[in-house]
Amino acid sequence: MQLKQALASAVDRLEAADVGSPRMNAEGLLMFVLGVSRAYLYAHPERELTSEEETRYDEVLAQRATGMPSQYITGHQEFWGLDFVVSPAVLIPRPETEHLVETVLDLARDVPRPRIVDVGTGSGCIALALAYELQSAEVYAVDVSADALEIARANAARLQLDGRVRFAHCNVLAAVAGATSAMTFAGFDFVVSNPPYVGFGEADKVQKSVRDFEPRVAVFAGEQGLDVIGPLVRQAHKALQQDGWLTVEIGYSMRDVVLNLLDPTMWDDVRVVPDLQGIPRVVAARKS
Ligand SMILES: C[S@@+](CC[C@H](N)C(=O)[O-])C[C@H]1O[C@@H](n2cnc3c(N)ncnc32)[C@H](O)[C@@H]1O
Repeated sequence: MQLKQALASAVDRLEAADVGSPRMNAEGLLMFVLGVSRAYLYAHPERELTSEEETRYDEVLAQRATGMPSQYITGHQEFWGLDFVVSPAVLIPRPETEHLVETVLDLARDVPRPRIVDVGTGSGCIALALAYELQSAEVYAVDVSADALEIARANAARLQLDGRVRFAHCNVLAAVAGATSAMTFAGFDFVVSNPPYVGFGEADKVQKSVRDFEPRVAVFAGEQGLDVIGPLVRQAHKALQQDGWLTVEIGYSMRDVVLNLLDPTMWDDVRVVPDLQGIPRVVAARKS
């Protein structure tokens, strides 16, 4: 079968399966299977696929037709201009999380050797982007999921940042029983987090592909969605030094709930940073 025929039938197949942007997906998956660029697809429409390539393309299209995100099929997602490997053990890094990185970089400008801990690191995208940008920073990254930490460590090695970020298996900022590297979290300049924040009762408000394929522990946090962010606010206060910053990504419509968690006798200079659509996306608060 020629490349252009394979593409045309893939577009029809993904359309029939209700996959959004079927052409872009069909092209992306063919690029992945053949290991070529989009330009190559356009330049060689008559190239014949080998039977192995046809079979492999058929397999990945079948996966995509179930609704599986293409990033879990190709195993990659770009974040902050860096290439991250991803698996179903980690949340796929989202572009809006770059606002959290920007917020920390803004606040860290005048801190000579910032000590930073990223809580719920997942793929490691936030911790590694910060380590990449802030050459003198001391960066820690923790997660309650041992499988996620494995992916984060692999990303650190691939990006040659493994000497710069230390990883630990923790429930928020408390080492979990049996964790190999116990750390004491104190004296930080930044506690950074994109925590899970969806309540169990709000599952129907989450995209189906997120519900069906992304890790539950990365998305949901108890009945109200506050089971991680609540302890995080309390523990961050202990982990930060005076004038240190808590910076947290928040969900759509969570602004007031999160602001309510910040006791004004313990936090000052509370800021809310909107994303490009004007939706409150990051809350930053300084330990007073
Ligand atoms: C929304 S994902 C964010 C992942 C990554 N930081 C990002 O922005 O793409 C939340 C992460 O928090 C982790 N997590 C959930 N509950 C946790 C807890 N109690 N303590 C530490 N990490 C937790 C999950 O395993 C998941 O990796």
